[in-house]
Amino acid sequence: MKIFFDTAEVDAIRTGVESGLVRGVTTNPTHILKSGAVFEEVVRQICDIVPEHVSAEPVAHSADDLIRGAERIAGMHPKIVVKIPMTRDGIKVVPVLESQGIRTNVTMVFSPTQAFLAMSAGASFVSIVLSRLEKVGQETDRLIEDTMLIKQNYGFPSEVIAASIKTQPTLLICLRKKVDIATIPPSLFDELFQHPLTDSGLDQFNRDWEKVRTEG
Ligand code: E4P
Repeated sequence: MKIFFDTAEVDAIRTGVESGLVRGVTTNPTHILKSGAVFEEVVRQICDIVPEHVSAEPVAHSADDLIRGAERIAGMHPKIVVKIPMTRDGIKVVPVLESQGIRTNVTMVFSPTQAFLAMSAGASFVSIVLSRLEKVGQETDRLIEDTMLIKQNYGFPSEVIAASIKTQPTLLICLRKKVDIATIPPSLFDELFQHPLTDSGLDQFNRDWEKVRTEG
């Protein structure tokens, strides 16, 4: 499972990529707003940092507007994947864009049957958005499991993105179910390195090594 960051904070993305583990980024209008940067500038900057792809979202509703917005965004950088909303118009434009060589990421997917529609339309990526379900008290295990099962049962080539993961247990479920990509905030990435037994074990080794050096 590849790790992507779910943010538009350039410094955090650079640090993640420098670790050698973060492959790409997904953004949304809220992330861009929080970063305080200009959309085109920040998206190009992120594209120059990451090894793989960056999902960016045109804000449009009708099929025609989505196609125009997607073409504009995709033209900004070859690493861009265009986020398309899980709506009737969105699903309609997916095959049009994919046939033009524009990779799509269908987003705001909250059920396995929505994921099925996005895969059937030929989306390169399908984003199941997990933490928003957890926030309203719903478990996400079945959504993750069923989405991966649908992909396997019918051999859909779409990659499944488990988006908006906020906790380690949810990340672990994604690993168990062989999800393709997990998008996480930089804060969760930092947490993954931490374990109290790692800290105490290393402290003990350092202390004992000092004794070996001075007393041995
Ligand atoms: C996915 O496509 C969404 O943009 C993103 O993962 C949502 O993240 P949030 O729920 O943390 O805003």
